[in-house]
Amino acid sequence: MKRVAIPAVALVLCSALLLRVGAQDKPAAAATPPAAAASAPAEVICFESRQGGATDVTQRELKPGLPNVKCSPVTGAALWYGDPYDGTVPMGAMPGLEALPEGTAVVKPRSTKLNLLAQCGTACHNGVFPKGFPKNNRPVPIPTMEGMLPDVKTFQHGRGRIWCLECHHSTKRNMLVDHFGDPISFDQPQLLCGKCHGDKLRDWRDGIHGKRIGDFTSTGKKRWFTCTECHNPHNVQDGARDRGFVQLKPETPPQMPRGMKDAAFEKTHPIPH
Ligand code: HEC
Ligand code: HEC
Ligand code: HEC
Repeated sequence: MKRVAIPAVALVLCSALLLRVGAQDKPAAAATPPAAAASAPAEVICFESRQGGATDVTQRELKPGLPNVKCSPVTGAALWYGDPYDGTVPMGAMPGLEALPEGTAVVKPRSTKLNLLAQCGTACHNGVFPKGFPKNNRPVPIPTMEGMLPDVKTFQHGRGRIWCLECHHSTKRNMLVDHFGDPISFDQPQLLCGKCHGDKLRDWRDGIHGKRIGDFTSTGKKRWFTCTECHNPHNVQDGARDRGFVQLKPETPPQMPRGMKDAAFEKTHPIPH
């Protein structure tokens, strides 16, 4: 993981720049919803990092001929951005990043993706209903929540050692919580994750964990992907691997350079030794 991370981040930053100049020209036909009306062009929706709606982006034109995003026809993943800062907001105060010039670190707010958030502290958990607040954070069955959020039923984070109120503020339910009991915005999940995964937060700050796109220069503006854009906090030991990250389908290999029939040329060293 660590060994691939550095070049991968650099590559992402480079390709963000390169691709802005030499955009690919094939129209993306990823993950198109099946039954769009025959007359209207089908909506193209791609995902950025987490599949299943958590990081979906709908393709649209920023100006004629310039889409906000191009999607992989193979995986449905976002491959290229017409504007890497589209839909972003400033990252907000972040310990350890005070030296960054203002406005150069931006993120996509998570709150716009959370359908239940509007009800969390108002219609539900408003101090009246359900009655009172839990006194501790021991795991208990919560069928009403399971109905609304199936993730809860399959909850898998910390192998049985952590539960809802380790992360969610007990009285302000539209907020996350830090180690002092102070609220954290859903748009700054790194502050939450960092309280238990300090090493990963440090790596993320240093650019060797996670992903950034945008201006490649060191002081240039970048969009930082936040922790929950890649990790589902309710299910981090995901899938058959029982760890880390849901595996993405690989892209097909790039085309052979013109005139090449197979990949044998890769084995020939340009400098004889
Ligand atoms: C490890 C920390 C953590 C734990 C433990 C945790 N959550 Fe969450 N929860 C989060 C974060 C972070 C988000 C925002 C996710 C995102 O941005 O995609 C969230 C989102 C939610 C949402 C909003 C979902 C939506 O789509 O609108 C609900 C409801 C929720 N959690 C309930 C629970 C319940 C109930 C439990 C206990 C069974 C729980 N959470 C345990 C961190 C946690
Ligand atoms: C209250 C402490 C706590 C918080 C907050 C927390 N985690 Fe965890 N996390 C854990 C524990 C404990 C484990 C289990 C480690 C193990 O099994 O070795 C874990 C495991 C993980 C794993 C899987 C590691 C593996 O070995 O497969 C990931 C990924 C992860 N957390 C990401 C996050 C993200 C992202 C957030 C913020 C949304 C977060 N965590 C917030 C305590 C926490
Ligand atoms: C661009 C996507 C992305 C972002 C953003 C991201 N991660 Fe990860 N993270 C990964 C991938 C990929 C892995 C490797 C998981 C695997 O081994 O399958 C990983 C692994 C982890 C692990 C488990 C490491 C281990 O030892 O197995 C933890 C914990 C974790 N991330 C926490 C975080 C935290 C905290 C943040 C935010 C500060 C964050 N991640 C941001 C993609 C991301």
